[in-house]
Amino acid sequence: NPIQPPAFNTCGAAHDVRTGDPLDVNCCPPVSDNIIDYKLPKVRKLRVRPAAHKLDKINLAKYEEAIRRMRELDKTDPTDPRGFTQQANIHCAYCNGAHDQVGFPGLDLQVHNSWLFFPFHRWYLYFYERILGSLINDPTFALPFWNWDNPKGMQLPRIFDNERSPLYDANRNQDHRPPDIVDLSLNNVTDDIQKVVNNLSIMYNEMVRSISVTTDFMGQPYRAGDQPGGFGSGGTSERGSHTGVHAWVGDPRNKYSEDMGNFYSAGRDTAFYSHHGNVDRMWSIWTTLKTDVPKTITDPDYLNASFLFYDENKQLVRVKVADCVDHRKMGYEYEKIDTPWLNYKP
Ligand code: C2O
Repeated sequence: NPIQPPAFNTCGAAHDVRTGDPLDVNCCPPVSDNIIDYKLPKVRKLRVRPAAHKLDKINLAKYEEAIRRMRELDKTDPTDPRGFTQQANIHCAYCNGAHDQVGFPGLDLQVHNSWLFFPFHRWYLYFYERILGSLINDPTFALPFWNWDNPKGMQLPRIFDNERSPLYDANRNQDHRPPDIVDLSLNNVTDDIQKVVNNLSIMYNEMVRSISVTTDFMGQPYRAGDQPGGFGSGGTSERGSHTGVHAWVGDPRNKYSEDMGNFYSAGRDTAFYSHHGNVDRMWSIWTTLKTDVPKTITDPDYLNASFLFYDENKQLVRVKVADCVDHRKMGYEYEKIDTPWLNYKP
């Protein structure tokens, strides 16, 4: 059977996934018993998510203002589900055992290390983007993505590194501020050219070469009553570039490499959402690759899995995986940027 959405009224303590140690944080969302099944609104005009390193002044100003307002909600009403801390806590609650699986008390609900990885994060970003847009009354607002698969985007986008910007986060690895080049391999490669070359071949591997069946890319099945899978149950992209960027940005001065280095705190870094924009873009690009592997999963336990989110009107909604497999139906697409790794057969 498919994974059921969590019951917010039974949300409990969060723990570190690797050690099991309790975390000193309450990341449970506000409770509401008014839940509606989400219907994708009619799409009038696609939002086009831009590459963060090329963001123009006007769109940067809009993005900063939207984040400033989202942070402001933390102060004016900490229980407003649209607030920045509440948005960050979504990740903690779904990933650090705060939510149990409904009908299986004591069994953690986990949206990583399985085929739920891409759909969960797609929905998460979808509402985050709509909330930001509604806070600045701009229904066309589109979340910038961090284009780390292209040499031009292989460093933390500078918009996140301005200490006077609401996009700034002090909890990052200080040795990895721009223009330091990202190292997706996490092998402490020091030569810049070598890092770029490695990154491109990592991308080729995880998008093409090491995929023989659909779940190699998408992640292993995860159904109602299943124990959360370990790291090895995630897809190639989740385990590879996705984890690489988290670990590379996270601050080694902090116990759990907060913010980006641990599930519970990752959402506190604005760069998290742009990172996941690119992860989501990789899913989108993968489905268009002309390789033999089927690009869709038809198992109803996948398609009918569902989650709960608060939308931009603070309405708690139930969404299912089936409604997110085509992001154009969700009203957005990505700025077209070339993918040099595609021809990077090592
Ligand atoms: Cu839910 Cu990048 O992790």
